[in-house]
Amino acid sequence: MKKSRLSQAESADRHILYQSSVQDVESELDFVSQAWGELRSRRAELLREDFCGTANTACEWVRRGQHHQAIGIDMDADVLAWGRQHNISSLSAEQQQRIILLQDNVLDVSEDAADIILAMNFSYYLFLTRAQLRDYFLSTRQGLCEDGLLIMDAYGGYEAPMELQEPRECVGFTYIWDQARFNPIDSLMDCHIHFEFNDGSRLEKAFSYHWRLWTLPEIKEILLEAGYSRVTIYWEGTDEDNPEEGDGIYAAATEGDADPGWIAYIVAEA
Ligand SMILES: C[S@@+](CC[C@H](N)C(=O)[O-])C[C@H]1O[C@@H](n2cnc3c(N)ncnc32)[C@H](O)[C@@H]1O
Repeated sequence: MKKSRLSQAESADRHILYQSSVQDVESELDFVSQAWGELRSRRAELLREDFCGTANTACEWVRRGQHHQAIGIDMDADVLAWGRQHNISSLSAEQQQRIILLQDNVLDVSEDAADIILAMNFSYYLFLTRAQLRDYFLSTRQGLCEDGLLIMDAYGGYEAPMELQEPRECVGFTYIWDQARFNPIDSLMDCHIHFEFNDGSRLEKAFSYHWRLWTLPEIKEILLEAGYSRVTIYWEGTDEDNPEEGDGIYAAATEGDADPGWIAYIVAEA
């Protein structure tokens, strides 16, 4: 057999690598169910996944309940096409009837009022000014039903504004989070994701983000300005055996620890 000349980086699919290193749709949706169950007594059905990328989370939502419906929104036609080919196609025909993907700007959507709007993996950090973030929160507020929830994640900590590279071993490759540039004057950053392989090859800047490092009080204030009635921060508990690590359990909190790097959830009630 002829030996392939392609390096591992050349033959890799960046979306597969992203889904297996960055995303954890099961934990995300476990949190969504927890927050919904704590705050609402009826069943959630329609979930809108903003910045959906490959619509991995929207697909998992549809799989999790026969009454579940999902709308995924992303403005990148290529990433949506990838999601249709690889994720939507793995749903049953009946599940596929309950999911719609739209190529659109999340600021412009006027779909049915959703029970839940999800904006994960810090995608709203792509809005660089207070006015843009406020517009986004105003439009999500309008896109939710009366008792709907906007659920987002956020990250921070004293390492968040540092220029550093953080490698993490994954199965078959190394994921590298690169905080390449941070400007303290406007809090804008350039971040990249690189992937490195056992044969020494590298997928450089597989994904790049130019975004603003928002703080929790800023986000909370802007959500309230946009008309949300209540905003709750969910903070991760500490692992009993390893106090340096989180335990994956999130609870409503008004005080957090000054960790070097944390991820929190924000739940805004319409
Ligand atoms: C950080 S990725 C997040 C992907 C996925 N939601 C996740 O949790 O991993 C950001 C995605 O948002 C999309 N995007 C950026 N700005 C957008 C906008 N204004 N409207 C719709 N999609 C947008 C990009 O095309 C990209 O797929």
